[in-house]
Amino acid sequence: MARTYRAALLGCGNRGAYASRAYRYHPRTDVVGLCDLDRARLDALGDELGVADRFDDVEAMLAAVEPDIVLVPVQTDLHFPLAMRVLAARACHLDVEKPMTVDLAQADALLARAGELGAQIAVHHQGSSLRSLSAVKRALAEGRIGVPLHVTSNGKGYYGGYELMNMGTHMLNALLAVTGPCRRVTATLLTGGRPIAAEDVVQSPSGMGTIAGQQITATLEFDEMLTGTLHQHMFPGIEREALGFEIAGTEGRLRWHYDGAWIQPVPWAVPGRARWEALPERQPPEPLPDGVNAGEYWYVDDYVTALDAGGSHPSDGRRGRHIIEIILAIFESGAYRRPVTLPQAERDHPLLRLRREAGLGDPDPAPRPYREWLAVQAAKHGWPVERTGPLP
Ligand SMILES: NC(=O)c1ccc[n+]([C@@H]2O[C@H](COP(=O)([O-])OP(=O)(O)OC[C@H]3O[C@@H](n4cnc5c(N)ncnc54)[C@H](O)[C@@H]3O)[C@@H](O)[C@H]2O)c1
Repeated sequence: MARTYRAALLGCGNRGAYASRAYRYHPRTDVVGLCDLDRARLDALGDELGVADRFDDVEAMLAAVEPDIVLVPVQTDLHFPLAMRVLAARACHLDVEKPMTVDLAQADALLARAGELGAQIAVHHQGSSLRSLSAVKRALAEGRIGVPLHVTSNGKGYYGGYELMNMGTHMLNALLAVTGPCRRVTATLLTGGRPIAAEDVVQSPSGMGTIAGQQITATLEFDEMLTGTLHQHMFPGIEREALGFEIAGTEGRLRWHYDGAWIQPVPWAVPGRARWEALPERQPPEPLPDGVNAGEYWYVDDYVTALDAGGSHPSDGRRGRHIIEIILAIFESGAYRRPVTLPQAERDHPLLRLRREAGLGDPDPAPRPYREWLAVQAAKHGWPVERTGPLP
């Protein structure tokens, strides 16, 4: 009989709840322990999932429940220290929230430690486990849009540098699944309508490291897909519908979004004459219960399939690190106004390097909630309110 993987959760916040529901529901995984410093969150999730083994200390949880997989859905600046703490106490597989780390030094160290232990790392980009992305890959393999030429991707409209770390990581993961590795990056980063300078380097909201650029346009050169353009532009509001990518080929176009995938069987069409057809996708074996999202379910399913085969998740630690390489290359290219070849030999943070070279120290501490963070930026630059709001 196929084995059941024992999963333990480190962090019972919003993301931990979503992820653990899928691990609880999937027939090949179970949730055997929960850990949080916040007793109320721990008990609320423990009661919902029916998990009795609850802890406020990660080492105690690892020793008591001996998990195969530990989920690490904590704030981004805690991914690295807590993932390393788990691996110091137990050789087990990890499921780390996105973005994997805040910089390349952390990503390199985490991968090295996991490699020594033979542990797998999955990075929680659940959207790209949706079968709509498989439908795009299938359509490409069948030559349905001819030869792919170019891919364009948009974000939701957060401040560009934050969008890149927060949502760009999801988009890059989905893109890399169809394009292969990125070899070179050329980017333009603007703040207040002019190219960024050392003073525009700031601490990210939500603990996502060091960022810059209100508006970002990046050209990416891939192995197989030729070129792509990543747009991370701040909009007046947050537009979920904007998130996604479109691949242009010699004979048609493919569009991918969290809600589905579509094909237009002609390369060009003026508005009103475009004919987008939905691509069929595989469904879960039965309707999922309330609170279990399809992306989360398929993401767990992909991990089970990979671990059964002794392999890695499609969104694995190497992919997670490559995404951080691309993101830091975008920052570097914008900061130094030159193309950056990947993987970069210099593993330090290019924006902190820029500040050091300008005689500046690390950026000042900034509010963690996005709304408050943006208000500080608006006040600093004298932006009118309509350029920063309305916000979610
Ligand atoms: N995959 C996605 O679609 C998606 C969406 C939103 C956010 N995220 C990511 O999820 C991550 C977490 O986000 P969140 O909003 O759930 O965070 P959160 O702060 O709401 O939850 C994290 C929990 O971890 C707990 N925690 C922190 N340190 C701990 C420790 N040492 N031991 C035990 N528990 C500890 C906190 O008490 C908290 O309850 C972020 O990295 C974010 O980027 C991913």
